[in-house]
Amino acid sequence: MDWGMQSRMSRLIPPTTGKGFFLAIDHGYFLGPTSKLERPGAAVAELTPIVDALFVTRGVLRSAIPAESTPNVILRVSGGSSIVGGNLENEHLLVTAEEAIRLDVAAVGVSVFIGSEYESQTLNNLAKAVNEFERYGIPVMAVTAVGKELEKRDARYLALASRICAELGARVVKTYYTENFEVITESCPVPVVIAGGPRTDDALEVLSFVRDGIDRGAIGVNLGRNIWQHYDPVGMAKALRAVIHENADPGDAIHLVAPPQVQD
Ligand code: 5RP
Repeated sequence: MDWGMQSRMSRLIPPTTGKGFFLAIDHGYFLGPTSKLERPGAAVAELTPIVDALFVTRGVLRSAIPAESTPNVILRVSGGSSIVGGNLENEHLLVTAEEAIRLDVAAVGVSVFIGSEYESQTLNNLAKAVNEFERYGIPVMAVTAVGKELEKRDARYLALASRICAELGARVVKTYYTENFEVITESCPVPVVIAGGPRTDDALEVLSFVRDGIDRGAIGVNLGRNIWQHYDPVGMAKALRAVIHENADPGDAIHLVAPPQVQD
C-alpha cells in the first residue's frame, strides 16, 4: 500500500485499536432536511471530536462544517436521486477526484444497489470510483444500499453484496447490521463497518447490536440517526466510542448516556 493510502486508512481506522467510528450525516443527499439534521453544523459540533470521521456531502461540508474542527472526511460521491423521485437506486458518480483532493478527504463513499434494476450502473460507479480515487491514494468505501426494499437486509444478501464490493476494489464496506453478522465478515476480505440498525431511543439496544457486530468481525460503525436523533447525542457517541475503541460492555457503556426523562 502506498504511503498516502496507508496514511488515509489509518486516519479512518486508527492502528492503536484497529477500529473505526464514522458518523453519517449524508442523509440530506436524497432525503432533504432530515429531522435533527436540519442544521448539520450545530448537530455535529460536539460529536466531531468523539468520532474518527464524518460521512458527508461536499455541500454540507463546505457550508456547515468548520475546517478548523479538522474532521476526517469520508466524502459521499454518489447520488443524483431522491426519496420523491421514481428510482432511488438511479445514482451516478457526482464528484471528481480533483474536488476530493481540494477538500482534503480521507476517503470517499459510493452506494451500490445490488439486485436492483440499477445494479450494473451502480457497480460501475463503484469500479470507476476505485479507478479514479485510488490513483490519488484515496480509499473508496462502498455502501451496500437497498433503497426502499428493507426486507433485503439479511445476512445472505448482505454477504453477497459486501463481497462483490470488495472484489471491485472497495477498501472498506459499510453494510447494515443483521443477525449472524459473521456470515458477512468472514467472507469479506476488507474491513466491514455496521450501518443503520433499527432507529431507536433505546441506547442499550444500539450499544448491544454494535457490540454483537464487532464481536462477529465488524471493525466499527457508520451510524447516523441512532446518534444525532437520540435525546442525548453526545452521551450516545461517548458510549459507542467506549464499545468500539475500548472494547466496553454495553452494560458499562450505557452509564455514559443520560437516563431517559420520565414524563409527568
Ligand atoms: C444514507 C447512508 C447513511 O450513511 C447510513 O444509512 C447510516 O445512517 P443511519 O445510521 O442513520 O441509517 O448511507 O444513505
